[in-house]
Amino acid sequence: MTTLLDVAGLSKGFGGLQAVNDCSFTVERGAIAGLIGPNGAGKTTAFNMISGVLRPDAGAVLVDGVDITGMMPHKVARRGVGRTFQITRELGDLTVLENMVVPTARGRLSGLFGARMLRDEEERAMELLDFVGISRLADEKARNLSFGQRKLLEFASALMADPTLLLLDEPAGGVNPALLERMMERIRTLNEQGLTFLIVEHNMDVVMNLCRSIVVMAHGEVVLTGSPAVVQNDDRVLDAYLGKV
Ligand SMILES: Nc1ncnc2c1ncn2[C@@H]1O[C@H](COP(=O)(O)OP(=O)(O)OP(=O)(O)O)[C@@H](O)[C@H]1O
Ligand SMILES: [Mg+2]
Repeated sequence: MTTLLDVAGLSKGFGGLQAVNDCSFTVERGAIAGLIGPNGAGKTTAFNMISGVLRPDAGAVLVDGVDITGMMPHKVARRGVGRTFQITRELGDLTVLENMVVPTARGRLSGLFGARMLRDEEERAMELLDFVGISRLADEKARNLSFGQRKLLEFASALMADPTLLLLDEPAGGVNPALLERMMERIRTLNEQGLTFLIVEHNMDVVMNLCRSIVVMAHGEVVLTGSPAVVQNDDRVLDAYLGKV
C-alpha cells in the first residue's frame, strides 16, 4: 500500500477559534477512508484546506508525494483531487446536463474545436448521469431536483474531471434510503476501478459499511485513527460525540 494523501500538521484558525489544530493523517491509495467527528470538529475546514479552498495557517498537504499546499482549487483538481460540498452548489437555472459541463467546458467553447469538445463533454456527462441514475433528469432545471438528486448530481459532476482521489462531504446527508443505497453501490464500483475516497459522513451505517479506515476528529484535532471495529469500541470516540473531549 502506498500513501496517496498525506495531511501533515494542518492548522486553521478563524479569529479566536482554532477550527483545525495540527491535524495529521494519511489515506492509502485505493482506500475508502472515513473522516468522522461531531458538528464543528473541523472536517469541512480540513477538506477546504486539502482542496485549496482555504489556505492553511500551518502544515502541508501532499498528494502522491507532491506538495500541493496553498495551491488554487483548479490546480488541486488538476492534481487529481476532486470534491463535493456539504451544501451542494448546483446552478438552479441551468439544466442538470448544463451543470455537468459548465465547470469543465468554460472558456473553450468557441469555434469548431470548441463545439467538438462540448459534444465530447456532453457525452461523458450523460454517461456519468446514467451511472448515478439521474440521466432521465438531464434536461430538468437543477432547482427542480430533490435534495438527494442534487447530491447525486454533485457526485457525478465531481467525476467529470476523472479524479484519483475524491473527497465527499456528507454524501448521505438528507438522501433517502433508495438513493443512498445507489450512492454507496456506486462508490464501491468506482473504488474497485481504482478511485480512492475520503468521506466525511455522520451516518454511521454508511461509514462502517464503506470505510476500512477511519479518522476521528474532535475540536479540530485527530483523536483516533483505525478500523471500524477499533473506532466503534473506543471510549474516546463516544466521548467526542458526547462532548466530553
Ligand atoms: N469561514 C469560517 N469562518 C469562521 N468560522 C468558521 C468558518 N468555517 C468554519 N468555521 C468554524 O470552524 C469550526 C469547524 O467547522 P467545520 O465546518 O470545519 O466543522 P465540521 O466538522 O465540518 O462540522 P459539521 O459536521 O457540522 O459539518 C466550527 O466551529 C465552525 O463554526
Ligand atoms: Mg462539515
